[in-house]
Amino acid sequence: MRTLMIAGGAGFIGSNYCRLVLERHPDYRIVVYDKLTYAGNPANLADIADDPRYTFVLGDICDADAVRAAIRKHDVDTIVNFAAETHVDRSLSEPGAFIMTDVYGTHVLLEAVRELGLERFHQVSTDEVYGEVLTGSSAECDPLAPRSPYSASKAGGDMMVLAYHASFGLPVTITRGSNNIGPYQYPEKVVPLFITNAIDDLPLPIYGDGHQMRDYQYVEDHCEGIDVVLHHGVPGEIYNLGSGVETRNIDMATLLLDLLGKPHSLLQYITDRPGHDRRYSVNIEKVCALGWEPRHTFAQALEKTVRWYVENEPWWRTIKSGDFYRAYYEKHYAGREIKPD
Ligand code: NAD
Ligand code: DAU
Repeated sequence: MRTLMIAGGAGFIGSNYCRLVLERHPDYRIVVYDKLTYAGNPANLADIADDPRYTFVLGDICDADAVRAAIRKHDVDTIVNFAAETHVDRSLSEPGAFIMTDVYGTHVLLEAVRELGLERFHQVSTDEVYGEVLTGSSAECDPLAPRSPYSASKAGGDMMVLAYHASFGLPVTITRGSNNIGPYQYPEKVVPLFITNAIDDLPLPIYGDGHQMRDYQYVEDHCEGIDVVLHHGVPGEIYNLGSGVETRNIDMATLLLDLLGKPHSLLQYITDRPGHDRRYSVNIEKVCALGWEPRHTFAQALEKTVRWYVENEPWWRTIKSGDFYRAYYEKHYAGREIKPD
């Protein structure tokens, strides 16, 4: 029996990963360790709440004593770290929380792995650490050039993970994933924001000219990739994960409106994100050599994602109708429309 601590398991990707582990590894137990920030949601794990192999621990990865206590109490041998502040726009207004969780929190987990002699640590990172990539694709050996407080914090976390491998021989791996879409994504991120706005006939706020490019991958593909790296990756190594195909935001938004049968007049251009990275692109050859490949095209991923939000209105309406979300939306989007000349 292997016991995984899934830090940040109540968030979007972490909760999808919990389901994958319980399905794929009948002999594993999982301990979700999560602070339940605004992005952590017990409803994301409701369908596995009664599984005897699942335990939830409320805790902060920055709290060293609580982390160690949870590891000891539940006999954890492996940590997969999803816990992070993750929204680029929020990192522009509140960078401190990102530095704290994404850098310091990662260090706290690594210290626990070192002191308690755990078998493995896996860090879930992002393609944003490479910075914007105007041509070609990022390879794992490329220099890091993060440009937002979010990506700089994630890069700091990655560096700490690699330092613990070099300095103390910790058995670590890192994956750097591209933009995920799919069930349970908090509707501040562009795809669930646009789907849920479109369902309600609200405008879809496009930053700048909408020609920025992202590699939108289906969350299940990303989780499968993380699991392959956890089991077959080489300690000390980094693996990119993505679909390998980039899409312009405006094309993603237009396809999404078509899938929902909504008019393109809902597209609304607004002032751009400061320092907005124009394009990310990852080379995925290294992880494919481990036997993984993405199973969804962008069109399939978007279609499944749209369907999930259509069929799960209570999940996102609860979030979007709350004071916290409404205050953020008003503060972030009000008055940013670009008026036609
Ligand atoms: P999310 O924002 O949906 O969830 C983050 C989770 O971490 C939440 O459950 C939150 O409560 C928890 N958390 C935050 N701070 C914590 C702390 N100090 N202690 C314990 N728990 C804490 O995030 P996500 O989109 O699921 O991303 C998960 C991971 O994957 C992150 O590390 C992110 O950088 C990385 N990533 C995300 C994407 C993407 O497209 N969403 C792509 C590549 C990599
Ligand atoms: O690349 C991986 C990263 O993808 C993850 O590490 C991050 O955690 C995740 O948030 C995501 O970052 P992005 O900044 O790419 O995601 P976001 O959904 O915020 O924006 C995607 C694109 O859509 C980006 O080019 C900005 C644009 N956008 C976003 C919002 C919220 C808009 O045009 N309008 C919007 O309202």
